[in-house]
Amino acid sequence: MANKLYCLLFFSLISSSLGAQTFAHERSSEYVPPKEPEVIRQLDRWQDLKFGMLIHWGLYSRLGIVESWSICSEEEEWIPRDSAASYDAYKRSYWATIDSFKPDKFDPAAWATAGRQAGMGYVVFTTKHHDGFNMFDTKQSDFSIAKGAFRDDPRRNVAKEVFAAFRQESYMVGAYFSKPDWHSQYYWWDRYATPNRNNNYSIDKNPWRWNKFKEFTYSQIEELLNGDYGAIDILWLDGGWVRPAGGAARAGRAYKGSQDIDMPRIAAMARRYQPGILMVDRTVPGEFENYQTPERGIPDSRPDAPWESCIPLGNDWGYVPTDVYKTPTKVIHTLAEITAKGGNLLLGIGPKPDGTLPGEVVARLRQVGAWLQKNGKAIFNTRPAPIYHSGDTWFTQSKDGKKTYAIACWEEGQPAPRSVTWQGNEPAPGGKIVCLQTGKPAAWKKTGGGVEVTLPSPKDLPVGVAALAFEF
Ligand code: GLC
Repeated sequence: MANKLYCLLFFSLISSSLGAQTFAHERSSEYVPPKEPEVIRQLDRWQDLKFGMLIHWGLYSRLGIVESWSICSEEEEWIPRDSAASYDAYKRSYWATIDSFKPDKFDPAAWATAGRQAGMGYVVFTTKHHDGFNMFDTKQSDFSIAKGAFRDDPRRNVAKEVFAAFRQESYMVGAYFSKPDWHSQYYWWDRYATPNRNNNYSIDKNPWRWNKFKEFTYSQIEELLNGDYGAIDILWLDGGWVRPAGGAARAGRAYKGSQDIDMPRIAAMARRYQPGILMVDRTVPGEFENYQTPERGIPDSRPDAPWESCIPLGNDWGYVPTDVYKTPTKVIHTLAEITAKGGNLLLGIGPKPDGTLPGEVVARLRQVGAWLQKNGKAIFNTRPAPIYHSGDTWFTQSKDGKKTYAIACWEEGQPAPRSVTWQGNEPAPGGKIVCLQTGKPAAWKKTGGGVEVTLPSPKDLPVGVAALAFEF
């Protein structure tokens, strides 16, 4: 059975409420469960954590603009670009940012602490985004943070510092790595124009060049996984249009024939160095996509496969000074729904160019953490309950199935209701329902409409978050 391909229904994204970037990756339509015992164990561990931090940090943070995409010639509203500059001049000025990106206040321990206080248990850090700028001291290219304005700083191997700081706080550690590389002559060759996100030359006519790209990619990933960067738990590969033909069963200009980088070889190497590593070749269904990664949305119904939704706290992934952040309630409601549907939330944040987190991000994370501190039992280490929701109440259960949790959510900005009513999951007759916020039993009764639970008095309610969890 292990090899069986699970066909899953497509879902629609509720992207209107979670952010606007179009071309967001969708969840794969198929899932192949891993066979390796270490990977199965690691997946289970990862599913216990529920809440992670996705960090986008690179040259685009220095510029305070959308990540990487401004150097790609696809014209989209979400890719604003200085209209006065010619494309070539713009691209040159973008590359030149390497000479001014100098994050003097870089302090990954502070990021790890902020995430830990928020209840996050894993991190995924952009070692290289599509622009090809390396946030690690790669030997394959000089286009890196370690060779630019930050080169004399002892912390210049930024990714290594990030992984160490988060590991110190017991996170599971993940490396985001973009398969496409818009700075590499093996992907975007200067001989030709770069009309879109894809490689800009014919692979059939230039096999030598494409093979060089394969070697380059393999070597970079090997550098990250061979132990120099410590234990890496997740390899999160972005840029799903880089995939073999056949896997790209979707229309549109984003996909252009085969861009086969020999994933079996990369995966074999990855597992040799890091036996339990979760391979997340996102949106490329098959044995190298150990979990699925919808983006900026939540599947309408509960998927069968392990999954994680990545959603930025702001509207953009990287730091943009004018960004508008989601409220702690929005984050909690999203986390509750995702958890009830068996997924994880990977929340995106963008450190500032100086290396600190925006104060607003830290403040919001702190509020989320304060709620989870009391109510987190309903989230962490849980699995979905057979009936996973009733209206705006989301259900989970402990891994042994002995406890059920209900997370009641109400509309932000509205006063908390005096009581909530749900259907489907009921305590045993005469059983107790404990309010996790207060640790005290809550009054409840069976009504025609289901179970009606009385909320604690307003002074005992969580501050700033319109949700409350119960255990029974
Ligand atoms: C989208 C964006 C990409 C970003 C990713 C994070 O695919 O296009 O830039 O890194 O989301 O999930």
